[in-house]
Amino acid sequence: MANSQVRPVIIDTDGGVDDALAIVMALNCEHLDLKAVTVLAGNIDVNQAANNVLRVIEIVQPKQPPLVAKGCEKPLVRPPFNAAGIHGADGLGELHQFKNADGSPRYPQLTVEPSSEDAVDVLLKAAQEYGSELTIVALGPLTNIATALQRERSTLQKVGRIVIMGGAVKVPGNISAAAEFNFFVDPDAAQVVMESGIPLTLVGLDVAMKAPLPRKDVENYVQKQRSLVSQFIADCTGIYMAFYRDNEGFHGCYLHDPLAVGVAIDPSLVSTESVYMVVETEGRFTSGMSLADLRDRRDESTFPPNVDACLEVDTERFMKLFYDLI
Ligand code: BDR
Ligand code: CA
Repeated sequence: MANSQVRPVIIDTDGGVDDALAIVMALNCEHLDLKAVTVLAGNIDVNQAANNVLRVIEIVQPKQPPLVAKGCEKPLVRPPFNAAGIHGADGLGELHQFKNADGSPRYPQLTVEPSSEDAVDVLLKAAQEYGSELTIVALGPLTNIATALQRERSTLQKVGRIVIMGGAVKVPGNISAAAEFNFFVDPDAAQVVMESGIPLTLVGLDVAMKAPLPRKDVENYVQKQRSLVSQFIADCTGIYMAFYRDNEGFHGCYLHDPLAVGVAIDPSLVSTESVYMVVETEGRFTSGMSLADLRDRRDESTFPPNVDACLEVDTERFMKLFYDLI
């Protein structure tokens, strides 16, 4: 592993299925000190997203549970747009459908609540406290992070790096022909973050779609592990994987958000190219598109690279890390 120190991390998330898998990884990784999980609307509304994060923490039962704080309820400019049709009505595979042998709910209502602190304040406080030591791993639309920049730019600029699951550099989008979901939901926020001057690593669809998790592998894993976590992973991925089976022809899912956590843990899993990137905030057909200037003749003084875009991934090594941490 490239960096074996324990590093303070915040995960910013919209509480969907692959977000949940990513949080399981982070909670189980001894190289990350997960200080807080900041939550926002995206895959699902912010209250349900926070509930989903608390659910994951309750299942993993870490020694030191991170703070969970709710943030933005909608994108900076756009109306809300969710992915309940992909992640399930609760954003987490409709957990209410699962029962124990005695008929009681396998996932009863939670008794814990999120912190009363605002997620954007949590991000700013952590930036102030941990400075360049801090990595933010952004797994949803970038609304919380953009709002933090708008509120106190110089404070957020103290963070060491933001690892972003979002965008698509040389491949098509997923929610539209041009755009990846997280950037599509809040293109204005994504563009604010592109202009932040903070070191950014972009874990986009170029690499995320090279990390598929087949359904049969999840089933084998549950047979072998037989734990609360493995059962939860099998349960929460059911609807999500069925979406891919019905729409993309393979029964499984991509590990978008887990790969971003993987890259935060071990950057040597990917190879990157420094590019100048903007996000389309207007386009009729291209809203949310991440546009990297790949021209040889680009003028680096006018358009200096602002993003380290991941273009290749060592899938085998990432999958090993994934299984080691779930
Ligand atoms: C991203 O979109 C969301 O639905 C997933 O959680 C992931 O963050 C992939 O495009
Ligand atoms: Ca997500």
